[in-house]
Formats: sequence, structure tokens, C-alpha cells
Amino acid sequence: MGICDSTMGLSNTLFVMALLLSGVASIESQAYFNKTGELPCHFTNSQNISLDELVVFWQDQHKLVLHELFKGKENLQNVHLKYKGRTSFDKDNWTLRLHNVQIKDKGTYHCFIHYKGPKGLVPMHQMSSDLSVIANFSQPEITVTSNRTENSGVINLTCSSIHGYPEPKEMYFQLNTENSTTKYDTVMKKSQNNVTELYNVSVSLSFSVPEAHNVSVFCALKLETLEILLSLPFNIDAKPKEQDPKQGHFPWIAAVLVMFVVFCGMMSFKSLRRRKKQQPGPSRECETLKMKRKESEQTN
Ligand SMILES: *[C@@H]1O[C@H](CO)[C@@H](O)[C@H](O)[C@H]1NC(C)=O
Ligand SMILES: *[C@@H]1O[C@H](CO)[C@@H](O)[C@H](O)[C@H]1NC(C)=O
Ligand SMILES: *[C@@H]1O[C@H](CO)[C@@H](O)[C@H](O)[C@H]1NC(C)=O
Ligand SMILES: *[C@@H]1O[C@H](CO)[C@@H](O)[C@H](O)[C@H]1NC(C)=O
Ligand SMILES: *[C@@H]1O[C@H](CO)[C@@H](O)[C@H](O)[C@H]1NC(C)=O
Ligand SMILES: *[C@@H]1O[C@H](CO)[C@@H](O)[C@H](O)[C@H]1NC(C)=O
Ligand SMILES: *[C@@H]1O[C@H](CO)[C@@H](O)[C@H](O)[C@H]1NC(C)=O
Ligand SMILES: *[C@@H]1O[C@H](CO)[C@@H](O)[C@H](O)[C@H]1NC(C)=O
Ligand SMILES: *[C@@H]1O[C@H](CO)[C@@H](O)[C@H](O)[C@H]1NC(C)=O
Ligand SMILES: *[C@@H]1O[C@H](CO)[C@@H](O)[C@H](O)[C@H]1NC(C)=O
Repeated sequence: MGICDSTMGLSNTLFVMALLLSGVASIESQAYFNKTGELPCHFTNSQNISLDELVVFWQDQHKLVLHELFKGKENLQNVHLKYKGRTSFDKDNWTLRLHNVQIKDKGTYHCFIHYKGPKGLVPMHQMSSDLSVIANFSQPEITVTSNRTENSGVINLTCSSIHGYPEPKEMYFQLNTENSTTKYDTVMKKSQNNVTELYNVSVSLSFSVPEAHNVSVFCALKLETLEILLSLPFNIDAKPKEQDPKQGHFPWIAAVLVMFVVFCGMMSFKSLRRRKKQQPGPSRECETLKMKRKESEQTN
């Protein structure tokens, strides 16, 4: 019985300690790339214990030490090289500040507070925080990669946004006319800087400009947070149709020809009547007009 009681007591104690050390309490923290992040400890010093009696330190998920306060004094000895000179402790709210945050810094951090008693260190408080790092993508920008030519009317556009993190959800073009909105799904190209881990993304679109309508092209970048970044509009104004020279002149020539035919008909009718009275041959005017008509038809 005695043995059983003591083992149960021990296992209970171990369970509580495991709960304490597993970092059940964990909070989310967000930092911008190249800015300062906060790793809170949320220690409510209810007994008002002086820092001189405490050992306070922060570790990353690989147990590398970021910062250590040994009885109120900063101890650099255990601090890992990658964190040296990058941290500062805010004793007012027990928060560690991590400067010049990189994408690689995202992860879980633990803060530990121990009481430095005469018999050694006594754990007092532990806190975990998950640091996420974001970098704002630049406003998407549309550029013309190939202009429409007179015969094709096809325009190629590229839209790009740079230096962001994390990877966005999607990127697309949207064409707005007076009455319609068309979304063009395109494949998002991405490239990642192998040092900073920031992304550049772009999409390309090739489309026929509808000459009859004013078109506004937008480019949208949907971020991981589902927030949407829009480019400035790229406007293509409707143009009065530039006509093909041959096609453009055809109706005019046809009209003139019809007039010639009618005119000739009238002339020949008149001359026929006149011929019945007088003798001179067919109208020369009409003959030359007929010649002209033939020429026109050939050029057509
Ligand atoms: C980080 O910020 C500093 C100024 O605060 C700037 O000079 C530097 O270019 C930035 N680095 C990157 C990679 O953006
Ligand atoms: C800690 O205090 C500073 C100001 O002294 C404040 O900017 C910061 O948000 C606080 N951090 C937390 C986690 O409360
Ligand atoms: C905590 O202790 C310090 C001295 O160590 C004292 O100046 C301060 O007033 C105390 N604060 C509280 C809330 O007891
Ligand atoms: C990033 O963008 C958000 C708005 O989307 C803005 O509130 C924040 O200040 C920006 N941060 C930086 C570092 O540019
Ligand atoms: C495309 O053509 C427009 C005029 O139609 C001109 O203003 C623009 O500079 C051209 N862009 C490129 C990339 O050639
Ligand atoms: C848009 O719709 C209105 C009314 O339905 C119509 O009068 C107009 O011609 C349309 N415009 C275009 C560009 O299709
Ligand atoms: C991202 O875009 C910038 C500006 O265009 C360029 O200097 C940089 O090399 C690009 N980075 C990657 C990884 O493509
Ligand atoms: C990053 O990529 C460049 C070429 O794009 C290469 O020269 C360089 O060694 C790479 N750096 C790392 C750390 O992989
Ligand atoms: C425009 O884009 C299309 C489709 O990607 C491509 O086939 C075409 O060669 C491009 N035109 C020019 C002038 O680059
Ligand atoms: C296109 O927009 C211009 C003003 O920017 C307007 O004067 C014109 O009527 C519009 N044309 C069409 C076809 O909507």
C-alpha cells in the first residue's frame, strides 16, 4: 500500500510537471520581415520577486538560447551566435524583442523563468509562443510585354508583385467593360530568393482587345489571408475602328459605279431617243465612264 501510494503521488507530480513543461499555454505572435518581433512571457509576478533572484531565458525550437538574464544581468555565454545582438528584454511586460526578423525565424519559442534558490533552480513559469513572419507583397503592377499591332489586335500583359511572404493563394487578371467582368485564370509563376526566402510572383495574359468597348484590366493577388491586393487599372479606350484601306473604299467605289451605271443608262436612253431623230454615234462620255468602271473593277 505504502509503495503504491508513493508511486501514484510521484506519477501525479510528473504529470503536472509534464503539463507545465509541455507548454500548454502558447500564444501566436506575428512579425514583419526585417522588423522587430515580440516573444512574450506573460509572467504575472504576483509575489513581486526581484529579477535578482531569477534566471530568465528564451529558447527556440532547437533549444538554442536567444537571451538569458541571470540574476538580473544579461549573460551572453549561452546565447547562440545567430541571436547575438538581435534581442532586447522589456522588463515591464516580460517580453523579449527579436530584431531584424527573418523568414527563417518563424517557429516556436519558449520562455522559462526559474527561481534561483539556495538549493538550485526552481521552475516558476513557462510560456510558448509561435512566431509567424510576413512580408507585404508590393502592389501588383501591370506592364505591356507586347503591344497590339495593326493586324493582330492582341496585347500581351504581365503583372508582377515582389518581395512577399508567405506564398499567395492565387493571382489573376480581371477585364471589366461597361457591362461585363471577366476573370482570367492564369498560372502564377513564382520565384523564391534563396537567402531571404521572399517570393516574387507574376502572371501573363494574351488577349484580343475588343475595339468597340472601353476595357479596364485589373490584376489581383489573393494572399494567404484571403486579402486581395489590386493593381491600378490598365485602361484601353475604345477606338473608332481603323479601317482596312481596301474594305474602307469599297462602298464608295460601288456607290460611284452605281451612279455611273445609272448615269450611263440615262445617257444612252437619251441618246437612243436622240439617235432616232439625229444620226451621231453613242455618247463618248459614256464610253469613257465604262472604261473607268472596268479599271476600277480590276483594281478591286
Ligand atoms: C532591412 O531594413 C533596412 C532598414 O531598416 C534596410 O536598409 C534593408 O535594406 C532591409 N533589408 C531587406 C532585405 O529588406
Ligand atoms: C510590451 O510593452 C511595449 C511597450 O513598452 C509594447 O509596445 C508591447 O506591445 C508590449 N508587449 C506585450 C506582449 O504586451
Ligand atoms: C516590488 O518590489 C520592489 C522592490 O523590489 C518595490 O519597489 C515595488 O514597489 C514592489 N511592487 C509591488 C507591487 O509590491
Ligand atoms: C503591411 O500591410 C498592412 C496592410 O495590409 C499594413 O497595415 C502594414 O503596416 C504593412 N506593414 C509593413 C511593414 O509594410
Ligand atoms: C504600346 O502602344 C502605345 C500606343 O498605342 C504606346 O503608348 C506604348 O508605349 C506602347 N508600349 C510598348 C511596350 O510598346
Ligand atoms: C451595356 O448595357 C446597356 C443596357 O443594357 C446597353 O445599352 C449598352 O450598349 C451596353 N454596353 C456595352 C458596351 O455592351
Ligand atoms: C524579384 O524581383 C526583383 C525586382 O524585379 C529582382 O531584383 C529579384 O531578383 C527578383 N527575385 C527573384 C528571386 O526572382
Ligand atoms: C543562391 O542562388 C544563387 C544563384 O541563383 C547561387 O549563386 C547561390 O550560391 C545560392 N545561395 C545559396 C545560399 O544557396
Ligand atoms: C503573346 O503571348 C502569346 C501567348 O503567350 C504568345 O504566343 C505570343 O508570342 C506573344 N506575343 C508576343 C509578340 O510576344
Ligand atoms: C470610353 O471612355 C471615354 C472616356 O474615357 C468615353 O468618352 C467614351 O464614350 C467611352 N466609349 C465607350 C464605347 O464606352
